[in-house]
Amino acid sequence: MKIHIALFTILFIRIFGDSDDDVTVSIDDEEYAVPMPCREFCDNGVREKRIANSPVKSKILDVMMKTPQLHLDPAEPDVLSFLRDKYELPKGFKGPLAEYDFIIVGAGSAGSVLAARLSEGRQASVLLLEAGLGESLITSVPILAPLLQQTEYVWPYKMEFQPGICVGMTDERCFWPRGKAVGGTSVVNYMIYTRGFAEDWNRIAADGNYGWSYKDVIPYYMKSERAYLKGLADSPWHGRDGELNVEYVPFKSKLSKAFLDAAKLFGHRRVDYNSPDAFGFSYIQATMSHGHRTSSAKAFLHDHKKRKNLHILNSSTVTKILIDPLSKTATGVEFHRNGRVYQINAKKEVILSAGPIESPHLLMLSGIGPKDHLNSFGIPVIQDLKVGESLYDHISYPGLAFTINTTKLTLVERKIATIDNVLQLEQYGDGPMSSLAGVETIGYIKTNISKEPGDYPDIELLGSCASLASDEGDVVAKGIHLADWLYQDIYRPIENVESFTVLFMLLHPKSKGHLKLRSTNPFDHPKLYGNYMIHPDDTATMVEAIKYIIKLVDTSPFHKYGAKLYTKPLSTCKHYQFGSDKYWECAVRTITSTLHHQIATCKMGPSSDPEAVVDPELKVHGVNNLRVVDSSIIPKPISAHTNAPAIMIGEKAAALIKKSWKLL
Ligand SMILES: Cc1cc2nc3c(=O)[nH]c(=O)nc-3n(C[C@H](O)[C@H](O)[C@H](O)COP(=O)(O)OP(=O)(O)OC[C@H]3O[C@@H](n4cnc5c(N)ncnc54)[C@H](O)[C@@H]3O)c2cc1C
Ligand SMILES: *[C@@H]1O[C@H](CO)[C@@H](O)[C@H](O)[C@H]1NC(C)=O
Ligand SMILES: *[C@@H]1O[C@H](CO)[C@@H](O)[C@H](O)[C@H]1NC(C)=O
Ligand SMILES: *[C@@H]1O[C@H](CO)[C@@H](O)[C@H](O)[C@H]1NC(C)=O
Repeated sequence: MKIHIALFTILFIRIFGDSDDDVTVSIDDEEYAVPMPCREFCDNGVREKRIANSPVKSKILDVMMKTPQLHLDPAEPDVLSFLRDKYELPKGFKGPLAEYDFIIVGAGSAGSVLAARLSEGRQASVLLLEAGLGESLITSVPILAPLLQQTEYVWPYKMEFQPGICVGMTDERCFWPRGKAVGGTSVVNYMIYTRGFAEDWNRIAADGNYGWSYKDVIPYYMKSERAYLKGLADSPWHGRDGELNVEYVPFKSKLSKAFLDAAKLFGHRRVDYNSPDAFGFSYIQATMSHGHRTSSAKAFLHDHKKRKNLHILNSSTVTKILIDPLSKTATGVEFHRNGRVYQINAKKEVILSAGPIESPHLLMLSGIGPKDHLNSFGIPVIQDLKVGESLYDHISYPGLAFTINTTKLTLVERKIATIDNVLQLEQYGDGPMSSLAGVETIGYIKTNISKEPGDYPDIELLGSCASLASDEGDVVAKGIHLADWLYQDIYRPIENVESFTVLFMLLHPKSKGHLKLRSTNPFDHPKLYGNYMIHPDDTATMVEAIKYIIKLVDTSPFHKYGAKLYTKPLSTCKHYQFGSDKYWECAVRTITSTLHHQIATCKMGPSSDPEAVVDPELKVHGVNNLRVVDSSIIPKPISAHTNAPAIMIGEKAAALIKKSWKLL
């Protein structure tokens, strides 16, 4: 068998030049920024380094190291460094300049596309600042997604302790990792591509957010998209000329068919869930290309590294937005890089794309936030706004396990970790390594207790061909911080049989959290309050979802494989009868798991909305030349995972900003 091992490399190092990379500015005329040594609150990166130094255990990583064709160096201590994507200043520049038209904070899902669009056509200069590093070979392999949560590619946030929630997680606290990389959370996420229902965006628009109805936002989804979706080649709802590859996950287990067959028995239709007719079931559409991850960086930044007017700085952490207090105008940012502190001016705008935790954090550190809260830290208040006072999240219960009497149906890590499977991904872009760690099918349902009209779902189901036991607790359980005692008690005993789970996502939680400053040190994580399940409707809907899943698996398509619900009770819930509503509520409170869609911390809304932080054009209320462009502006929960929405927000913001400054 002849092996074309160059595929990884080709996917990484795109050699196509940039169409507008010719020199037009004379570099010698530019004024460079002058850095100062750091005096106060310096980035020592202690937390992130600590997690990076505890090596991750993964049988798949081990076999990749043994695959001769990959030429990986077993002596290299940092496995994340293989084929690490590099961002350097364009040729000729000696350092960052003193001034740019636009400064974008955070090269995440939204920030990457925004930077690419604003620097198009060389009409404006753009500085893109990112705290993390470039992605690597390891981040491109879909099955390794859960492993990345244990690496320095994340900000390792933890939710504050909430009594009766996350009881079975390490220290009874839920883990809220966020991506820290050029590409942001799109470098560590599960790659599921969802846009939300028409109803979601229409409701947002109805709240006074002009320009955000479904009809308004769809063109921006499609602009970025380059769809390779079998069966949808003629669909008017998919873009084909964008940079973001969207394809069906190439790997499909037999259980995925059982899932869709069972849904059919329950009367559900097969749909393209990224069209207006979304209420139904489907295989998952994912942001990937030939079975490899397509991050926002790979899609939007890779080809533009040579643009003279786009400067991308990795390992650069912004600590403050510079705002003139009298005119309430943002004038630039302060950031730390390699132990030095820079202050750089923005001639036109500062744009925060630092994600739902750091964007509000930076606003508050810079004097924009709830007055009393800022006062209590001695931060001079520039604008009193309810920054961080709304926070919604999508939560799930990954704890269900169904055992089967058949083998080779699920992804047992120990069995699939083979050189052949590594080569299968490399050569053909498919096989088990292209799996989103087991997740393969998706379906929208409305539980019996929903009070919503029409086909508006309250639950999303995610079919998977793996369970928490499938990797012997090495990766997924560790990635979500499941307590070891719980893993040993419940999942260890089923490691030797094949098992799978069906996940769900509570789409429209009524429970609302918030976030607060911990200190005035920008390197301290803010205090994150999930307030999960404080509204009884949320709890009731999740219990219905679990019962629904159990019924769905109790059908002939699954019986064929001998699928049985694993009934060992959680020790924390032993006082309830297994399978009762009370039991399931307790179970969700024990293995509480987020799908990492924190939103609304810089809520978008018209000035009449007392909770609004930004207006429908994403400008911070009451402050000039400052916008927030990322998932933090989504004002209320939507029926979607939030990566594609964040990219759409970046795309739409680019159009708004270009219009404001009359750029073409
Ligand atoms: C484990 C996990 C799995 C997920 N799976 C999916 C999925 O399958 N599908 C889906 O649609 N969504 C998924 N999501 C959610 C989705 O990826 C995010 O909602 C989305 O990427 C958010 O985009 P953003 O632009 O708002 O922020 P981000 O992509 O998080 O970007 C923010 C960027 O800003 C940088 N930054 C922050 N502070 C600073 C600072 N002070 N200075 C400089 N840079 C800074 C960060 O390092 C980061 O790169 C997942 C999330 C996680 C964590
Ligand atoms: C940027 O990333 C590269 C690795 O791609 C790294 O070598 C470099 O040190 C980073 N920059 C800074 C300022 O740390
Ligand atoms: C929902 O209610 C209908 C009608 O009462 C019933 O037939 C169905 O089984 C219920 N579904 C679930 C999942 O409880
Ligand atoms: C698995 O269980 C099903 C249902 O009980 C049965 O029909 C099937 O023969 C079993 N298969 C094996 C391999 O035991």
